[in-house]
Amino acid sequence: MQFKYVAYYIDIKLEIYITHFYVQPRPFCCYPFICADASFVAFILIFDFFFRNNFLFKMPGMLLGQVVPNFDAETSEGKINFHEWLATPLPGREKSWTVMVSHPADFTPVCTTELGGLQKASTEFFKRNVKLIAMSCDDVESHIGWIKDIKSYNSLDSFSYPIIADPKRVVANLYGMMDPDEVDAKGLPLTCRAVFVIDENKKLKLSILYPATTGRNVPEILRVIDSLKLTVEKKVATPVNWKDGDKCMVIPSVKPDEAKILFPEHKVTQVPSGKEYLRLTPQP
Ligand code: BEZ
Repeated sequence: MQFKYVAYYIDIKLEIYITHFYVQPRPFCCYPFICADASFVAFILIFDFFFRNNFLFKMPGMLLGQVVPNFDAETSEGKINFHEWLATPLPGREKSWTVMVSHPADFTPVCTTELGGLQKASTEFFKRNVKLIAMSCDDVESHIGWIKDIKSYNSLDSFSYPIIADPKRVVANLYGMMDPDEVDAKGLPLTCRAVFVIDENKKLKLSILYPATTGRNVPEILRVIDSLKLTVEKKVATPVNWKDGDKCMVIPSVKPDEAKILFPEHKVTQVPSGKEYLRLTPQP
């Protein structure tokens, strides 16, 4: 892991060298030196490309359907083993799903609104049998101080989900959450805003990555959970801007005869191609 930081540091320094010292107007007498430098610059550019593409922080890191990587971590609610934490259901439930969100850093304005927004919607996540967990690239002490600010700013009485401490970016790298365009004051890379929906079998059902400058939308997270939970059970898909209760589309793998039995009220929309693939049904 340390190697990545060293590589990143060298990479940034080289970039500064290129932009500040090399790509500048020079007097004519400097031209021979500039030409001699050209091979060095070519080497730097190849080095830069190679490291960015092979060793530095590549996104995305996980595939849908994959069991998410396990890790041990400190959180604002004590130490966890992530797979054990995922396997612990919400009170009164047998198995729960999880939404994991990542944050670039503690004491940052957008993150403070997002974590408050998730807490305000915690009963909606509970209704859907979904646990919440956040992650930020600072230590537990910092998280505990920050939670006081989150509660104060968002007028909350409680804060009911853990924040994983990831000061060394171990989890962030494991989950492909680093945003190469976002660095902190020390020049260290920050995580993007990731949303991972993980099912009761620890499999990744959905992944959305936002850059640090764009805050997430909690109703959208709840909306996609509704769609995911519906479509794992029923042979439907949810169309554009679908919300719970809206009409759904019968999925293409359902044959017309089966569709009549499974979705007796479905309607086929006629289109110029003559193909009968647009089949709307009330939400099953
Ligand atoms: C924020 O949470 O406000 C933030 C964090 C990092 C970069 C930009 C914004």
